[in-house]
Amino acid sequence: TPTASFVVVANRLAVDRIENADGSTGWRTSPGGLVTALEPVMRANDGAWIGWHGAPEKLEPFSTNGMQLIPVELSETEVAQYYEGLSNGTLWPLYHDAVENPEFHREWWDAYVAVNERFADRTAAVAEDGAVVWVQDYQLQLVPAMLRRRRPDLRIGFFLHIPFPPLELFQQLPWRNQILEGMLGADLVGFQLPGGAQNFVRLVRQRLHLQTHRDRVRTADGRTVLARAYPISIDTSGFNELAASPSVEQRAKQIRHDLGDPRTIFLGVDRLDYTKGLRQRIRAFGELVRDGRLDPDEAVLVQVAAPSRDRVDQYRQLRDDIDMLVGRINGETGRIGRPPITYLHASYPREEMAALYRAADIMVVTPLRDGMNLVAKEFIACRQDDNGALVLSEFAGAAKELRQAYLVNPYDINGLKERLVEAMNDSPRVHARRMRYLRKQVFENDIDRWASLFLDDLTGRES
Ligand code: G6P
Repeated sequence: TPTASFVVVANRLAVDRIENADGSTGWRTSPGGLVTALEPVMRANDGAWIGWHGAPEKLEPFSTNGMQLIPVELSETEVAQYYEGLSNGTLWPLYHDAVENPEFHREWWDAYVAVNERFADRTAAVAEDGAVVWVQDYQLQLVPAMLRRRRPDLRIGFFLHIPFPPLELFQQLPWRNQILEGMLGADLVGFQLPGGAQNFVRLVRQRLHLQTHRDRVRTADGRTVLARAYPISIDTSGFNELAASPSVEQRAKQIRHDLGDPRTIFLGVDRLDYTKGLRQRIRAFGELVRDGRLDPDEAVLVQVAAPSRDRVDQYRQLRDDIDMLVGRINGETGRIGRPPITYLHASYPREEMAALYRAADIMVVTPLRDGMNLVAKEFIACRQDDNGALVLSEFAGAAKELRQAYLVNPYDINGLKERLVEAMNDSPRVHARRMRYLRKQVFENDIDRWASLFLDDLTGRES
Protein backbone atom coordinates (compact mmCIF):
# COMPACT_ATOMS: atom_id res chain seq x y z
CA THR A 1 0.00 0.00 0.00
CA PRO A 2 1.07 3.54 -0.75
CA THR A 3 1.48 5.97 2.15
CA ALA A 4 0.85 9.70 2.46
CA SER A 5 1.24 12.60 4.89
CA PHE A 6 -2.07 14.14 3.77
CA VAL A 7 -5.14 11.96 3.44
CA VAL A 8 -8.70 12.82 2.46
CA VAL A 9 -11.40 10.32 3.39
CA ALA A 10 -14.79 10.65 1.68
CA ASN A 11 -17.65 8.33 0.78
CA ARG A 12 -16.92 8.84 -2.90
CA LEU A 13 -13.53 8.60 -4.58
CA ALA A 14 -12.23 11.75 -6.29
CA VAL A 15 -12.52 10.10 -9.68
CA ASP A 16 -15.45 8.70 -11.62
CA ARG A 17 -15.27 5.50 -13.54
CA ILE A 18 -15.84 5.96 -17.26
CA GLU A 19 -16.56 3.39 -19.93
CA ASN A 20 -14.13 3.63 -22.82
CA ALA A 21 -15.34 2.96 -26.36
CA ASP A 22 -13.65 -0.46 -26.37
CA GLY A 23 -15.55 -1.49 -23.24
CA SER A 24 -12.61 -1.07 -20.84
CA THR A 25 -12.89 1.28 -17.86
CA GLY A 26 -10.96 4.46 -17.26
CA TRP A 27 -11.02 7.19 -14.61
CA ARG A 28 -11.85 10.87 -14.80
CA THR A 29 -11.37 13.42 -12.02
CA SER A 30 -14.77 14.25 -10.52
CA PRO A 31 -16.07 17.67 -11.46
CA GLY A 32 -17.11 18.48 -7.87
CA GLY A 33 -15.83 21.48 -5.97
CA LEU A 34 -14.24 19.47 -3.19
CA VAL A 35 -11.91 17.67 -5.55
CA THR A 36 -11.03 20.92 -7.33
CA ALA A 37 -10.26 22.54 -3.99
CA LEU A 38 -8.14 19.77 -2.62
CA GLU A 39 -6.28 18.83 -5.81
CA PRO A 40 -3.51 21.44 -5.31
CA VAL A 41 -3.10 20.46 -1.66
CA MET A 42 -3.07 16.81 -2.64
CA ARG A 43 -0.47 17.38 -5.31
CA ALA A 44 1.80 19.50 -3.10
CA ASN A 45 1.74 16.84 -0.37
CA ASP A 46 1.57 13.76 -2.56
CA GLY A 47 -1.77 13.18 -0.89
CA ALA A 48 -4.04 10.17 -0.90
CA TRP A 49 -7.83 10.07 -1.34
CA ILE A 50 -9.77 7.18 0.16
CA GLY A 51 -13.30 6.53 -1.07
CA TRP A 52 -15.88 4.15 -2.53
CA HIS A 53 -15.37 3.60 -6.27
CA GLY A 54 -19.00 2.63 -6.87
CA ALA A 55 -18.53 -1.10 -7.32
CA PRO A 56 -18.42 -4.25 -5.16
CA GLU A 57 -15.07 -5.61 -6.35
CA LYS A 58 -11.83 -4.86 -4.57
CA LEU A 59 -9.53 -2.57 -6.55
CA GLU A 60 -5.84 -1.91 -6.06
CA PRO A 61 -4.72 1.65 -5.24
CA PHE A 62 -3.68 3.70 -8.27
CA SER A 63 -2.65 7.28 -9.09
CA THR A 64 -3.84 9.92 -11.51
CA ASN A 65 -3.20 13.68 -11.68
CA GLY A 66 -0.72 13.60 -8.81
CA MET A 67 -3.27 11.99 -6.49
CA GLN A 68 -3.08 8.55 -4.98
CA LEU A 69 -6.46 6.90 -5.00
CA ILE A 70 -7.36 4.19 -2.54
CA PRO A 71 -10.64 2.52 -3.55
CA VAL A 72 -12.94 1.13 -0.87
CA GLU A 73 -15.34 -1.62 -1.97
CA LEU A 74 -18.94 -1.90 -0.75
CA SER A 75 -21.01 -5.06 -1.14
CA GLU A 76 -24.52 -4.78 -2.56
CA THR A 77 -25.98 -5.24 0.91
CA GLU A 78 -23.72 -2.49 2.24
CA VAL A 79 -24.83 -0.14 -0.50
CA ALA A 80 -28.44 -0.85 0.49
CA GLN A 81 -27.89 -0.56 4.25
CA TYR A 82 -25.00 1.86 4.74
CA TYR A 83 -25.40 4.19 1.72
CA GLU A 84 -29.09 4.08 0.74
CA GLY A 85 -30.12 3.07 4.27
CA LEU A 86 -28.49 4.82 7.20
CA SER A 87 -26.77 7.59 5.23
CA ASN A 88 -29.62 8.52 2.90
CA GLY A 89 -32.71 7.01 4.55
CA THR A 90 -31.91 8.08 8.13
CA LEU A 91 -29.27 10.79 8.47
CA TRP A 92 -29.97 12.76 5.28
CA PRO A 93 -33.68 13.40 6.01
CA LEU A 94 -33.14 13.83 9.77
CA TYR A 95 -30.37 16.40 9.34
CA HIS A 96 -32.50 18.26 6.77
CA ASP A 97 -35.24 19.09 9.26
CA ALA A 98 -36.98 15.74 8.67
CA VAL A 99 -38.67 17.12 5.54
CA GLU A 100 -39.20 13.44 4.74
CA ASN A 101 -39.54 10.78 7.42
CA PRO A 102 -36.21 9.37 8.61
CA GLU A 103 -36.33 5.61 9.13
CA PHE A 104 -34.48 3.88 11.93
CA HIS A 105 -33.36 0.29 11.33
CA ARG A 106 -30.84 -1.50 13.48
CA GLU A 107 -29.38 -3.50 10.61
CA TRP A 108 -28.71 -0.26 8.73
CA TRP A 109 -26.78 1.01 11.72
CA ASP A 110 -24.72 -2.18 11.95
CA ALA A 111 -23.73 -1.78 8.31
CA TYR A 112 -22.86 1.90 8.90
CA VAL A 113 -20.54 0.90 11.76
CA ALA A 114 -18.94 -1.88 9.69
CA VAL A 115 -18.31 0.37 6.67
CA ASN A 116 -16.94 3.18 8.84
CA GLU A 117 -14.54 0.60 10.36
CA ARG A 118 -13.37 -0.37 6.89
CA PHE A 119 -12.66 3.26 6.00
CA ALA A 120 -10.78 3.69 9.30
CA ASP A 121 -8.71 0.56 8.63
CA ARG A 122 -7.77 1.69 5.14
CA THR A 123 -6.86 5.15 6.42
CA ALA A 124 -4.76 3.78 9.28
CA ALA A 125 -2.78 1.73 6.76
CA VAL A 126 -2.16 4.67 4.41
CA ALA A 127 -1.44 7.57 6.79
CA GLU A 128 2.23 8.21 7.54
CA ASP A 129 3.46 8.98 11.03
CA GLY A 130 1.84 12.24 12.21
CA ALA A 131 -0.12 12.66 8.95
CA VAL A 132 -3.00 15.09 8.50
CA VAL A 133 -6.28 13.31 7.77
CA TRP A 134 -9.43 15.08 6.65
CA VAL A 135 -12.67 13.08 6.91
CA GLN A 136 -15.70 14.30 4.95
CA ASP A 137 -19.41 14.31 5.61
CA TYR A 138 -22.31 12.45 7.21
CA GLN A 139 -21.56 9.04 5.72
CA LEU A 140 -18.37 8.81 7.81
CA GLN A 141 -19.12 10.36 11.17
CA LEU A 142 -17.66 7.44 13.16
CA VAL A 143 -14.33 7.42 11.32
CA PRO A 144 -12.57 10.12 13.40
CA ALA A 145 -12.85 8.17 16.69
CA MET A 146 -12.20 4.80 15.05
CA LEU A 147 -9.09 6.23 13.46
CA ARG A 148 -7.81 7.83 16.65
CA ARG A 149 -8.15 4.50 18.46
CA ARG A 150 -5.89 2.94 15.83
CA ARG A 151 -3.58 5.90 15.28
CA PRO A 152 -3.34 8.45 18.12
CA ASP A 153 -0.40 10.13 16.32
CA LEU A 154 -2.58 11.56 13.52
CA ARG A 155 -4.00 15.05 13.20
CA ILE A 156 -7.65 14.46 12.33
CA GLY A 157 -10.16 16.92 10.87
CA PHE A 158 -13.83 16.31 10.12
CA PHE A 159 -16.14 18.45 7.99
CA LEU A 160 -19.92 18.05 7.75
CA HIS A 161 -21.22 19.28 4.38
CA ILE A 162 -24.90 19.12 5.33
CA PRO A 163 -26.75 20.93 8.15
CA PHE A 164 -26.16 19.79 11.70
CA PRO A 165 -29.71 19.67 13.08
CA PRO A 166 -31.29 21.20 16.17
CA LEU A 167 -31.18 19.13 19.35
CA GLU A 168 -34.81 17.98 19.26
CA LEU A 169 -34.22 16.29 15.91
CA PHE A 170 -30.77 14.88 16.58
CA GLN A 171 -31.96 13.31 19.83
CA GLN A 172 -34.34 11.04 17.91
CA LEU A 173 -31.34 9.03 16.72
CA PRO A 174 -31.07 5.78 18.68
CA TRP A 175 -27.30 6.05 18.12
CA ARG A 176 -26.93 9.73 19.02
CA ASN A 177 -24.14 9.29 21.57
CA GLN A 178 -22.10 7.05 19.29
CA ILE A 179 -22.25 9.65 16.53
CA LEU A 180 -21.18 12.49 18.81
CA GLU A 181 -18.34 10.37 20.16
CA GLY A 182 -17.34 9.43 16.63
CA MET A 183 -17.04 13.06 15.60
CA LEU A 184 -15.14 13.94 18.78
CA GLY A 185 -12.32 11.70 17.64
CA ALA A 186 -11.28 14.66 15.46
CA ASP A 187 -9.13 17.59 16.59
CA LEU A 188 -11.25 19.98 14.55
CA VAL A 189 -14.91 19.53 13.63
CA GLY A 190 -16.11 21.85 10.85
CA PHE A 191 -19.66 22.87 9.97
CA GLN A 192 -21.19 25.06 7.26
CA LEU A 193 -22.72 27.54 9.71
CA PRO A 194 -22.07 28.75 13.25
CA GLY A 195 -25.52 27.43 14.21
CA GLY A 196 -24.47 23.86 13.38
CA ALA A 197 -21.30 24.18 15.45
CA GLN A 198 -23.35 25.55 18.36
CA ASN A 199 -25.86 22.69 18.13
CA PHE A 200 -22.98 20.25 18.28
CA VAL A 201 -21.32 21.87 21.31
CA ARG A 202 -24.61 22.02 23.20
CA LEU A 203 -25.29 18.36 22.44
CA VAL A 204 -21.94 17.10 23.68
CA ARG A 205 -22.38 19.17 26.84
CA GLN A 206 -25.91 17.92 27.54
CA ARG A 207 -25.63 14.36 26.33
CA LEU A 208 -22.03 13.45 27.08
CA HIS A 209 -21.61 15.81 30.06
CA LEU A 210 -18.36 17.17 28.69
CA GLN A 211 -16.95 20.54 29.61
CA THR A 212 -17.27 23.11 26.86
CA HIS A 213 -16.20 26.69 26.46
CA ARG A 214 -17.44 28.57 23.39
CA ASP A 215 -16.12 26.56 20.42
CA ARG A 216 -14.00 24.23 22.54
CA VAL A 217 -14.86 20.82 23.94
CA ARG A 218 -12.78 19.03 26.54
CA THR A 219 -12.95 15.28 25.86
CA ALA A 220 -12.94 12.47 28.43
CA ASP A 221 -9.36 11.59 27.46
CA GLY A 222 -8.21 15.17 28.06
CA ARG A 223 -8.00 16.46 24.50
CA THR A 224 -9.43 19.75 23.21
CA VAL A 225 -11.71 19.55 20.17
CA LEU A 226 -12.55 22.70 18.26
CA ALA A 227 -16.01 23.08 16.63
CA ARG A 228 -16.22 25.90 14.09
CA ALA A 229 -17.99 27.05 10.95
CA TYR A 230 -16.31 27.11 7.52
CA PRO A 231 -18.87 27.94 4.82
CA ILE A 232 -17.85 25.99 1.73
CA SER A 233 -17.57 27.65 -1.67
CA ILE A 234 -16.62 27.06 -5.29
CA ASP A 235 -13.75 27.59 -7.70
CA THR A 236 -15.05 31.08 -8.42
CA SER A 237 -12.42 32.27 -10.87
CA GLY A 238 -12.53 28.93 -12.68
CA PHE A 239 -16.26 29.33 -13.29
CA ASN A 240 -15.87 32.99 -14.14
CA GLU A 241 -13.28 32.24 -16.82
CA LEU A 242 -15.20 29.31 -18.20
CA ALA A 243 -18.33 31.44 -18.55
CA ALA A 244 -16.32 34.14 -20.33
CA SER A 245 -15.02 31.78 -22.99
CA PRO A 246 -16.30 32.31 -26.55
CA SER A 247 -17.63 28.78 -26.85
CA VAL A 248 -19.72 29.13 -23.70
CA GLU A 249 -20.99 32.51 -24.83
CA GLN A 250 -21.97 30.99 -28.17
CA ARG A 251 -23.70 28.08 -26.48
CA ALA A 252 -25.62 30.47 -24.18
CA LYS A 253 -26.95 32.33 -27.24
CA GLN A 254 -27.96 29.06 -28.81
CA ILE A 255 -29.84 28.01 -25.67
CA ARG A 256 -31.79 31.29 -25.63
CA HIS A 257 -32.56 30.87 -29.29
CA ASP A 258 -33.72 27.27 -28.84
CA LEU A 259 -36.07 28.44 -26.09
CA GLY A 260 -37.63 30.95 -28.50
CA ASP A 261 -35.67 34.01 -27.32
CA PRO A 262 -38.09 34.72 -24.47
CA ARG A 263 -37.76 37.89 -22.44
CA THR A 264 -37.15 36.02 -19.18
CA ILE A 265 -35.57 32.64 -18.54
CA PHE A 266 -36.00 31.29 -15.03
CA LEU A 267 -33.49 28.56 -14.22
CA GLY A 268 -33.42 25.84 -11.59
CA VAL A 269 -30.47 23.43 -11.19
CA ASP A 270 -30.49 20.74 -8.52
CA ARG A 271 -29.90 17.13 -7.76
CA LEU A 272 -33.36 15.57 -7.88
CA ASP A 273 -33.74 15.67 -4.09
CA TYR A 274 -36.76 16.33 -1.88
CA THR A 275 -34.77 18.89 0.14
CA LYS A 276 -34.51 21.19 -2.88
CA GLY A 277 -38.05 22.59 -2.85
CA LEU A 278 -38.73 21.54 -6.44
CA ARG A 279 -42.43 20.96 -5.88
CA GLN A 280 -42.87 24.46 -4.41
CA ARG A 281 -40.83 26.12 -7.15
CA ILE A 282 -42.63 24.42 -10.02
CA ARG A 283 -46.02 25.00 -8.42
CA ALA A 284 -45.27 28.72 -7.96
CA PHE A 285 -44.13 29.11 -11.56
CA GLY A 286 -47.11 27.12 -12.86
CA GLU A 287 -49.59 29.26 -10.93
CA LEU A 288 -48.04 32.46 -12.26
CA VAL A 289 -48.54 31.18 -15.79
CA ARG A 290 -52.07 29.96 -15.08
CA ASP A 291 -53.00 33.22 -13.34
CA GLY A 292 -51.85 35.08 -16.44
CA ARG A 293 -49.17 36.94 -14.50
CA LEU A 294 -46.48 35.32 -16.64
CA ASP A 295 -46.95 35.09 -20.36
CA PRO A 296 -45.55 31.76 -21.56
CA ASP A 297 -44.39 33.46 -24.75
CA GLU A 298 -42.22 35.77 -22.65
CA ALA A 299 -41.19 33.73 -19.63
CA VAL A 300 -40.04 30.14 -19.40
CA LEU A 301 -38.61 27.91 -16.72
CA VAL A 302 -35.70 25.58 -17.41
CA GLN A 303 -35.31 23.00 -14.68
CA VAL A 304 -32.30 20.71 -14.65
CA ALA A 305 -32.68 17.88 -12.12
CA ALA A 306 -29.68 15.57 -11.92
CA PRO A 307 -30.59 11.93 -11.20
CA SER A 308 -29.71 11.03 -7.63
CA ARG A 309 -30.12 8.10 -5.19
CA ASP A 310 -32.85 6.71 -7.40
CA ARG A 311 -33.22 3.44 -5.51
CA VAL A 312 -34.39 5.23 -2.35
CA ASP A 313 -38.21 5.33 -2.06
CA GLN A 314 -38.65 9.06 -1.39
CA TYR A 315 -36.52 9.87 -4.43
CA ARG A 316 -38.65 7.66 -6.68
CA GLN A 317 -41.79 9.27 -5.35
CA LEU A 318 -40.32 12.72 -5.94
CA ARG A 319 -39.45 11.85 -9.51
CA ASP A 320 -43.01 10.72 -10.20
CA ASP A 321 -44.44 13.86 -8.57
CA ILE A 322 -42.24 16.19 -10.60
CA ASP A 323 -42.97 14.33 -13.85
CA MET A 324 -46.68 14.76 -13.18
CA LEU A 325 -46.49 18.37 -12.04
CA VAL A 326 -44.44 19.46 -15.06
CA GLY A 327 -46.59 17.43 -17.44
CA ARG A 328 -49.76 18.95 -16.11
CA ILE A 329 -48.53 22.54 -16.32
CA ASN A 330 -47.13 22.08 -19.82
CA GLY A 331 -50.28 20.28 -20.90
CA GLU A 332 -52.53 23.00 -19.60
CA THR A 333 -50.64 26.13 -20.56
CA GLY A 334 -48.28 25.23 -23.41
CA ARG A 335 -48.77 25.55 -27.12
CA ILE A 336 -47.00 23.91 -30.03
CA GLY A 337 -43.27 24.42 -29.74
CA ARG A 338 -43.64 26.46 -26.52
CA PRO A 339 -43.88 24.41 -23.34
CA PRO A 340 -43.56 26.85 -20.40
CA ILE A 341 -41.32 24.40 -18.55
CA THR A 342 -38.31 22.66 -20.05
CA TYR A 343 -37.55 19.82 -17.68
CA LEU A 344 -34.27 17.92 -18.00
CA HIS A 345 -33.73 14.86 -15.84
CA ALA A 346 -30.00 14.65 -16.54
CA SER A 347 -26.62 15.94 -15.48
CA TYR A 348 -24.34 17.97 -17.71
CA PRO A 349 -20.66 18.88 -17.88
CA ARG A 350 -19.39 22.14 -16.41
CA GLU A 351 -19.28 23.92 -19.80
CA GLU A 352 -22.97 23.29 -20.43
CA MET A 353 -23.83 24.43 -16.91
CA ALA A 354 -21.85 27.63 -17.37
CA ALA A 355 -23.74 28.28 -20.62
CA LEU A 356 -27.07 27.73 -18.85
CA TYR A 357 -26.07 30.08 -16.03
CA ARG A 358 -25.17 32.70 -18.63
CA ALA A 359 -28.31 32.17 -20.67
CA ALA A 360 -30.62 32.55 -17.67
CA ASP A 361 -32.10 35.74 -16.25
CA ILE A 362 -33.44 34.62 -12.90
CA MET A 363 -31.84 31.77 -11.01
CA VAL A 364 -34.31 30.13 -8.64
CA VAL A 365 -32.87 28.23 -5.66
CA THR A 366 -35.60 27.21 -3.23
CA PRO A 367 -34.43 24.42 -0.90
CA LEU A 368 -36.48 23.63 2.20
CA ARG A 369 -33.16 23.00 3.92
CA ASP A 370 -29.65 22.96 2.44
CA GLY A 371 -26.21 22.84 4.04
CA MET A 372 -24.87 25.51 1.70
CA ASN A 373 -26.04 25.30 -1.99
CA LEU A 374 -23.19 25.75 -4.41
CA VAL A 375 -25.41 26.17 -7.48
CA ALA A 376 -26.34 29.65 -6.22
CA LYS A 377 -22.64 30.53 -6.03
CA GLU A 378 -21.90 29.05 -9.45
CA PHE A 379 -24.60 31.18 -11.03
CA ILE A 380 -23.12 34.33 -9.49
CA ALA A 381 -19.60 33.39 -10.61
CA CYS A 382 -20.85 33.16 -14.21
CA ARG A 383 -22.53 36.62 -14.29
CA GLN A 384 -19.71 38.92 -15.31
CA ASP A 385 -22.15 41.39 -16.89
CA ASP A 386 -23.67 41.98 -13.45
CA ASN A 387 -27.13 41.37 -14.85
CA GLY A 388 -29.78 38.87 -13.82
CA ALA A 389 -30.97 38.00 -10.36
CA LEU A 390 -30.82 35.24 -7.77
CA VAL A 391 -33.94 34.16 -5.88
CA LEU A 392 -32.69 32.22 -2.87
CA SER A 393 -34.31 30.31 -0.03
CA GLU A 394 -33.68 31.58 3.49
CA PHE A 395 -33.12 27.94 4.42
CA ALA A 396 -30.00 27.44 2.30
CA GLY A 397 -26.74 27.95 4.18
CA ALA A 398 -25.73 30.28 1.34
CA ALA A 399 -28.42 32.77 2.41
CA LYS A 400 -26.24 33.73 5.40
CA GLU A 401 -23.60 35.08 3.02
CA LEU A 402 -25.62 36.07 -0.06
CA ARG A 403 -27.66 38.78 1.61
CA GLN A 404 -28.23 40.67 -1.66
CA ALA A 405 -30.16 37.82 -3.22
CA TYR A 406 -33.97 37.96 -3.36
CA LEU A 407 -34.51 35.92 -0.22
CA VAL A 408 -37.65 33.86 0.10
CA ASN A 409 -39.44 31.32 2.29
CA PRO A 410 -40.21 28.50 -0.17
CA TYR A 411 -43.03 27.11 1.98
CA ASP A 412 -44.90 30.37 1.35
CA ILE A 413 -46.03 29.81 -2.24
CA ASN A 414 -47.70 33.23 -2.54
CA GLY A 415 -44.59 34.93 -1.16
CA LEU A 416 -42.46 32.93 -3.60
CA LYS A 417 -44.66 34.00 -6.52
CA GLU A 418 -44.34 37.67 -5.51
CA ARG A 419 -40.57 37.33 -5.19
CA LEU A 420 -40.27 35.77 -8.67
CA VAL A 421 -42.27 38.60 -10.20
CA GLU A 422 -40.35 41.23 -8.24
CA ALA A 423 -36.98 39.77 -9.30
CA MET A 424 -38.19 39.71 -12.91
CA ASN A 425 -39.50 43.28 -12.90
CA ASP A 426 -36.73 45.07 -11.03
CA SER A 427 -34.63 47.39 -13.16
CA PRO A 428 -31.22 46.47 -14.58
CA ARG A 429 -29.73 49.06 -12.21
CA VAL A 430 -31.14 47.27 -9.16
CA HIS A 431 -29.97 43.93 -10.53
CA ALA A 432 -26.48 45.24 -11.15
CA ARG A 433 -26.19 46.74 -7.68
CA ARG A 434 -27.21 43.46 -6.05
CA MET A 435 -25.08 41.32 -8.35
CA ARG A 436 -21.92 43.35 -7.69
CA TYR A 437 -22.26 42.68 -3.96
CA LEU A 438 -22.91 39.01 -4.58
CA ARG A 439 -19.92 38.66 -6.89
CA LYS A 440 -17.63 40.37 -4.42
CA GLN A 441 -18.77 37.95 -1.72
CA VAL A 442 -18.22 34.86 -3.86
CA PHE A 443 -14.85 36.02 -5.18
CA GLU A 444 -13.53 36.87 -1.72
CA ASN A 445 -14.73 33.62 -0.22
CA ASP A 446 -13.79 30.93 -2.69
CA ILE A 447 -12.99 27.26 -2.24
CA ASP A 448 -9.24 27.84 -1.78
CA ARG A 449 -9.98 30.12 1.11
CA TRP A 450 -12.32 27.54 2.61
CA ALA A 451 -9.72 24.77 2.41
CA SER A 452 -6.92 26.89 3.79
CA LEU A 453 -8.96 28.27 6.69
CA PHE A 454 -9.85 24.73 7.72
CA LEU A 455 -6.38 23.26 7.21
CA ASP A 456 -4.67 26.17 8.99
CA ASP A 457 -6.88 25.63 12.02
CA LEU A 458 -6.28 21.91 11.84
CA THR A 459 -2.51 22.02 11.53
CA GLY A 460 -1.53 25.39 12.95
CA ARG A 461 -2.65 25.21 16.50
CA GLU A 462 -0.59 23.71 19.32
CA SER A 463 -1.45 20.27 20.58
C1 G6P B 1 -24.35 16.10 -1.02
C2 G6P B 1 -23.51 15.44 0.07
C3 G6P B 1 -22.30 14.75 -0.51
C4 G6P B 1 -22.71 13.84 -1.64
C5 G6P B 1 -23.51 14.60 -2.71
C6 G6P B 1 -23.99 13.71 -3.87
O1 G6P B 1 -23.67 17.21 -1.51
O2 G6P B 1 -23.12 16.38 1.06
O3 G6P B 1 -21.63 14.00 0.48
O4 G6P B 1 -21.59 13.24 -2.24
O5 G6P B 1 -24.62 15.20 -2.08
O6 G6P B 1 -24.75 12.64 -3.39
P1 G6P B 1 -24.32 11.12 -3.62
O7 G6P B 1 -25.22 10.34 -2.69
O8 G6P B 1 -24.58 10.85 -5.06
O9 G6P B 1 -22.87 10.99 -3.25
